[in-house]
Amino acid sequence: KSTSPTGKAEVAANVGDDRRAQAGRYLTTSQGVRLNDTDHSLKAGPRGPTLLEDFHLREKITHFDHERIPERVVHARGAAAHGTFRAYGNAESVTKAGFLAKGRETPVFTRFSTVLGSRGSADTVRDVRGFAVKFYTEEGNFDLVGNNMPVFFIQDGIKFPDVIHAGKPQPDREIPQAQSAHDTFWDFVSLHTEATHHVIWAMSDRGIPRSYRTMEGFGVHTFRLVNAAGETSLVKFHWKPVAGVHSLVWEEAQIAAGADPDFHRRDMADGIEAGAPLEFELGLQVLPDSEDETFEGIDLLDPTKLVPEELAEVVLVGKLTLDRNPTDYFAETEQVAFHTGHLVPGIEITNDPLMQARMFSYLDTQLTRLGGPNFAQLPINCPHAAVNDNLRDGMHQTAIHQGMAPYKPNTVDDDQPELATEAEGAYVHLPREVSGPKVRANPVSFDDHFSQATLFWRSMSQVEQAHIVEAYTFELSKLFEKPIRERVLGVLANVDAELCARVAAGLGLPAPEGDPARGVVPSPALSQVTTEVGPVA
Ligand code: HEM
Repeated sequence: KSTSPTGKAEVAANVGDDRRAQAGRYLTTSQGVRLNDTDHSLKAGPRGPTLLEDFHLREKITHFDHERIPERVVHARGAAAHGTFRAYGNAESVTKAGFLAKGRETPVFTRFSTVLGSRGSADTVRDVRGFAVKFYTEEGNFDLVGNNMPVFFIQDGIKFPDVIHAGKPQPDREIPQAQSAHDTFWDFVSLHTEATHHVIWAMSDRGIPRSYRTMEGFGVHTFRLVNAAGETSLVKFHWKPVAGVHSLVWEEAQIAAGADPDFHRRDMADGIEAGAPLEFELGLQVLPDSEDETFEGIDLLDPTKLVPEELAEVVLVGKLTLDRNPTDYFAETEQVAFHTGHLVPGIEITNDPLMQARMFSYLDTQLTRLGGPNFAQLPINCPHAAVNDNLRDGMHQTAIHQGMAPYKPNTVDDDQPELATEAEGAYVHLPREVSGPKVRANPVSFDDHFSQATLFWRSMSQVEQAHIVEAYTFELSKLFEKPIRERVLGVLANVDAELCARVAAGLGLPAPEGDPARGVVPSPALSQVTTEVGPVA
């Protein structure tokens, strides 16, 4: 860098440099004026009052005052890494998505998170983990915004504020965080029994992963894939960790939360720095597209249900390698904006009512969190594909647009961007029939709240079952309200009599009977399944 007194060479070198705020030898104001003192405010004499004209003081303090942006309303605590996704090519038969074409390498940014804790909370709390991957594909950004559990608490996104309000710290004291049970959460999930399957996953070893590199990830919802011939299939996305699935035990999780609240982010950053990248394989459970969108009696639009791997194999179609740490937590990890609506040709969403609400929520929340409509221009969110939109102006606009007619059609600008055909890579929605009465209702199959929770419990090893019993017993023992405890036992009785009896014994309470009409297992195929998922080491 030039250090000429005029700084002319520096100015020239800085044009077009995204990081020009840190160029040059001298400390400057944000306007590039060199400073000779940044430790003393401008005063009327050494003992006098500070002068309003001190532009450096005012700029320094004002900028500092505005350093914080709102943390994410959920998934506030997170850590991320850059990497590459390499496709094996065997998904080409089911999707035309370019990043899954054989040998294609796509840059990615992946953010792992807890759901309920604030940005400064501990990593090893019992909670769901977010597993969000942004693929910077040649056809635009594709975000797979998943979790480390394959099912969700609720079936319809309209209940998301309810489940999150119930799980977040109570408004009066802001305690406790996610690691210890509190009455509101258990009140909600005991009344809202569609949460039962997800809760038992959270109470299992899956709720306290050993590290990010040993977690599975899931897209949760069923997606619809489209291949080059226009044929469709339904699919569940999976991430399989190359290092295997490993969890902490509860005592370890608690000690780590106190001794090293950064346990997971430290492991990831140190590991990457030491040359040990995080590795995951992307897997697809490809299911036939059908009129009723079910598979072996399992309703594929119900996000509280999974498809057991015994019934549909997970085919591995590519590898994710996370091998580069962010250089600026705020600019990258904090400002990254994932959205289920960031889709590329070949991947469509389904009518899963949870998914449908998410399609609205992410952009909406980011408009506030990231201060206006131009956050796609932030380096971490910028697609690597060419962008040529007609969006203009707005808070924090950084693009200097050319031309004078940002609308279509127009006859004024000579170099108007063209519309693409499907063959030229345009995202063209499948023309699927939509009809039905306007109702606030779910399909009847959504009423089965227990069969897969039962399956999960019964597919666990003895050690895993013991951990589940201990987790429920510990969490429920912290409740103040006895009726909530009893109601949760009533839910567990509908999952499995032995599970209920063991937790009840731990609490010193009688075990209630299950409800005989608790919901018939809707799928004969499920009764043959012995394992929902593989064991956790
Ligand atoms: C954030 C996953 C359901 C609203 C996130 C993040 C993940 C995630 C991984 C963190 C993204 C990041 O690292 O920046 C999921 C999964 C869901 C689910 C797997 C269900 C299967 C919902 C629903 C809603 C919702 C139903 C609302 C209707 C949000 C919001 C954020 C968020 C508002 C914060 C986004 C931001 O500030 O950038 N979700 N979520 N999520 N999610 Fe979800």
